[in-house]
Amino acid sequence: MRGKSILLIIGGGIAAYKSLELIRRLAERGVKTRAILTKAGGEFITPLAVSSVSGEKTFQDLFNLTDESEMGHIELSRAADLVVVAPATADLMGKLAGGLANDLASTTLLATDKKILLAPAMNVRMWQSPSVRRSAQTLKKDGVLFVGPNDGEMACGEFGPGRMAEPLEILAAIEQALGAAHIKDNAPLTGMRALVTAGPTREPVDPVRFLGNHSSGKQGYAIAEALMRAGAETTLISGPVSLPAPGGVKLTRVTTAREMLAACEAALPADVLVMAAAVADWRPDFAANSKLKKSTDRVVPLIKLVENPDILATLAASSNRPRLVIGFAAETDDVVENAVAKRARKGADWIIANDVSGNVMGGERNRVHLISAKGVEDWPEMTKTEVGAQLAARIAETLKGAA
Ligand code: C5P
Repeated sequence: MRGKSILLIIGGGIAAYKSLELIRRLAERGVKTRAILTKAGGEFITPLAVSSVSGEKTFQDLFNLTDESEMGHIELSRAADLVVVAPATADLMGKLAGGLANDLASTTLLATDKKILLAPAMNVRMWQSPSVRRSAQTLKKDGVLFVGPNDGEMACGEFGPGRMAEPLEILAAIEQALGAAHIKDNAPLTGMRALVTAGPTREPVDPVRFLGNHSSGKQGYAIAEALMRAGAETTLISGPVSLPAPGGVKLTRVTTAREMLAACEAALPADVLVMAAAVADWRPDFAANSKLKKSTDRVVPLIKLVENPDILATLAASSNRPRLVIGFAAETDDVVENAVAKRARKGADWIIANDVSGNVMGGERNRVHLISAKGVEDWPEMTKTEVGAQLAARIAETLKGAA
């Protein structure tokens, strides 16, 4: 990223304040940001605040002679490596999708020859309205990139998709848009191997039925992607989920716990193992070869359960043990106490404990605690993508420190 430059268009929305943090994070990585603040954006943050963090002039007005003579909208749109719109309002999306241009932001967006990345932010009903859906579809078809929006509570008090992605997520999307190859160069986990599991397992009862759980796989996929981005050669062993394969990660799909164990053993050795999968603790002692039928005398079949192998404990005790073994603990009660006990019982180095009594399973956000030999760290609530990025950074620190 170092040496790249971004043109950031800040639209009108309460999320505009997060753009200031985005500019700071970009600056930390040696990226120069030049900003355009729309008229509505200027109602939320000031050009002075933007220039203070960017160290650059902030552009506001298409019809300002001085601005146009210094750096006109055509040049502004071409001088950067990437154009980012955050927050991207319904208005800016609609104008870009419809080819309208009546201010500096919209003319610049039409005039650019660079990729455009949008971080939408708006009320949930606006985001779900047919016209915004149409704009989003058109823009995606035109090759415009998106990050977010996330589900969550909104400034207006409603809940649902519409919250702007967090600065670290936008940063990750910018890195990706600028080209993954470049990120690899300064990736701390280069030369290391990571093994990640994700999703539920399904334990068959008969050919059409199974025992399963609500795991969506989102957290595990985010971790695998973050480790890959950090340079690790990453294998992801996934139970049945509806997520697309993350680019750059070797994906093996499995169904049952026993298949997951076999796939993990085949993928070793690795430097780090992250067991984010929600593995079924039990399976029916045998799966019927044909569909169980309702009997006329209404006798209900009894399903006897037997214990599944504990993949985490098995791999932690194996001769092929990865240097860093990380398990997850999904708990509804006494989250930290149970996780501390689990760390010892399973022989893991770290346990990431999360409270799944809310809508964590399937949701976009997570609040976790990292339990290690050093004690318990409470992490603030963040998106699963951010949890993945933070965890990858901690893994890198630890493996590098131990190398
Ligand atoms: O005991 P519990 O299921 O809560 O432990 C959770 C952790 O153990 C997770 O990291 C999960 O992936 C792993 N696990 C496993 N094999 C099992 C059950 C859980 O590896 N059979």
